[in-house]
Amino acid sequence: MPSLPNDRKKVQVPDLAAWKAEGRRMTMITAYDVTFARLVDEAGIDMILVGDSVGMVVQGTSNTIPVDLEEMAYHVRCVARANTKALVIGDLPFGSYQISPEQAVESSIVLMKNGAQCIKLEGGVHMADTIAAITRVDIPVIGHIGLTPQSVHRMGGFKVQGRTEGFEAGGRERILEDAHAVEQSGASAIVIEGVPMELAQEITQKVSIPTIGIGAGINCDGQVLVLHDVLGLCDSKYRFAKHYADLRTSTIEATQAFISDVRSGTFPDDAHSFH
Ligand code: KIV
Repeated sequence: MPSLPNDRKKVQVPDLAAWKAEGRRMTMITAYDVTFARLVDEAGIDMILVGDSVGMVVQGTSNTIPVDLEEMAYHVRCVARANTKALVIGDLPFGSYQISPEQAVESSIVLMKNGAQCIKLEGGVHMADTIAAITRVDIPVIGHIGLTPQSVHRMGGFKVQGRTEGFEAGGRERILEDAHAVEQSGASAIVIEGVPMELAQEITQKVSIPTIGIGAGINCDGQVLVLHDVLGLCDSKYRFAKHYADLRTSTIEATQAFISDVRSGTFPDDAHSFH
């Protein structure tokens, strides 16, 4: 069991650039509530992403499109109440930033007021003006390129991007352009999702800001995973996601033990009762 870095300082956005310069690999995990935010923070995670993946792992939606800003604000607020040392990132949901840079600034302000230290949004070249507008009002932005889940219908599913040559959406050269556009517009880091590891490595070498990979190979500056995958809470298993525990089995077994104790009349025993 590794020792817990209890005395660490609160992670701030400028730390990310310093860590890239030092070559220190960064860690990010999702969380959506105070209990898990406290636990992953105690474990020493660098960044907590309150991701719109909340739709798929908490709300039961088949993609992230239905999640709205009010729901994201609620989950950011729950995580912020954990007072973590980890940097708290709020994810802008679909429809809360695509209409105009003004709408994006307004939505970012909502997440910041609920406790986010920065926001994340999906898109590259077409989001450059939007990222610039948000950073202009001193809200740090993390970009997200490659397999962008909010583009599920354009991609025709959650498919690895950048396997074909070209400047059209999903093409290798276009993803490189996206990375440069996100960097040039003032973002503090880029999540690279679902691309060949060679492409993620090239981006990581070419951009000055940290890259955080998910399904993008070992050569990014950091890695992010969805909490429910790390804990093995879902029965689905994706190639890019490693289960570090089997809490699905533990949860079922613990619940079965409770059911059995109640049915057999052994819970609550004296130790769990009041006199
Ligand atoms: O919403 C999310 O959890 C994400 C990660 C998969 C990067 O965007």
